[in-house]
Amino acid sequence: MNLFRTKSIETLRAMAEKSGMKKSLSAVDLIFLGIGSIIGTGIFVLTGVAAANYAGPALMLSFVLSGLACVFAGLAYAEFASIVPSAGSAYTYTYASLGEFMAFLVGWNLILEYTVTASAVAAGWSGYVVGLLRAGGIDLPAAYTLVPADGGIINIPAIIIVMFLSILLVRGTRESTKLNRVLVIIKLATVFIFLFLAGPKVNPANWEPFMPFGFAGVAGGAAIVFFAYLGFDAVATSAEECHNPSRDLPIGIIGSLVVCTILYIAVSGVLTGVVPYTQLNNPEPVAYALRYIGYNIGSALVGVGAICGITTVLLVFLYGQARVFFAMSRDGMVPSSICKVHPVYKTPYLVTIVGAILVSAIAGFAPIGLIAEMANIGTLSAFVVAAVGVLVLRYTKPDIPRSFRCPALIVISPLAVLSCGFLMYNLPADTWIRFVVWCVIGLAVYFGYSYKHSTLNQDEAKHASGKQ
Ligand code: ALA
Repeated sequence: MNLFRTKSIETLRAMAEKSGMKKSLSAVDLIFLGIGSIIGTGIFVLTGVAAANYAGPALMLSFVLSGLACVFAGLAYAEFASIVPSAGSAYTYTYASLGEFMAFLVGWNLILEYTVTASAVAAGWSGYVVGLLRAGGIDLPAAYTLVPADGGIINIPAIIIVMFLSILLVRGTRESTKLNRVLVIIKLATVFIFLFLAGPKVNPANWEPFMPFGFAGVAGGAAIVFFAYLGFDAVATSAEECHNPSRDLPIGIIGSLVVCTILYIAVSGVLTGVVPYTQLNNPEPVAYALRYIGYNIGSALVGVGAICGITTVLLVFLYGQARVFFAMSRDGMVPSSICKVHPVYKTPYLVTIVGAILVSAIAGFAPIGLIAEMANIGTLSAFVVAAVGVLVLRYTKPDIPRSFRCPALIVISPLAVLSCGFLMYNLPADTWIRFVVWCVIGLAVYFGYSYKHSTLNQDEAKHASGKQ
């Protein structure tokens, strides 16, 4: 067995050229795509939970810790992306550096990240919409808006939004990024409305005690709010559809990350400054904070903006999931029959549809709490491998062109591994157990199917029979 066979970078570049995908994205589109995928449920919902249960007002520090881990991982990602401009992000990069086995595991965990995050986000979207309709006097039946574990039968609004956005994605990236752009502007406006209204009402007394749960609380909070950063890596999955991936991907990744980190620190500072952190554990802490200080209309506006914000996150995660699936199926890791580009729309339509069915099934029937925690651990594991992979490539392939070179990689790469590892360490034990189970299933798929069907294996077999 050859678990370390690697894809040649030249082959990947040629494949990207030939993939038939439309090259319609610019660097600005990518920053919008990044912000679209980053700011969502994390800031609008999870900040409150993390402040109340973990970090208190020191949530700002939790965001700094998580943000740092993302910057380190993001820099490594950006170098990878500039070397191997091919769909599939960390999966493809790992294939070119650490070999097929590690690449499969990374891809498997990216599928986990995208699927589980998209499912949780769709369920969150449904919750906000149901709440808004209720406020407007329309009460949808609980049986069709809640999953069985919460006393319902099926979460239909979550399924509808997944299907709707998947149709947009099948019809073409260009249309979807246009919609994404409008929604991102609304989302940023929402965040600024909050900061503008609540900022002047900050009462520094609410920041006392600053660290009610000590440093352990700050670290636990960082591991949870890492969810708020999930998505910047989705930018890297769109390499085959940008005009100039080597230049635009690093700009897209780092640019969107920097904007979001600044906004998160500002929002968490203002949030814990206007409301005592103990009151923030509710489904809509940002809107709650505005009501708390008497801005009811502002609160409703923020509610609507949050729905838009969450929609863009869902769009990007569905998009990224299809691209990872696409890259894996093209390599024979999952059945290659689903790796087809639509003759008219030039999008990987079959994988988009399969992914949407998977996300709908989870969002429609599984409780969010159980699935959401998994997103962080899947992503962090992929980041750790990517950070190692980029360093390996620096030594094994020092001469290949890199339009973006991560500064001080010898320091940044270990820092990315350590900071992501630290966040993983701070996740709850049951998350770890589920993660190990998922990886074991992945191993069964790899050794039962993927190893044999991998296109590299087919090439090796052809080579061997040619020699006989
Ligand atoms: N970062 C994304 C969000 O917060 C997943 O919703």
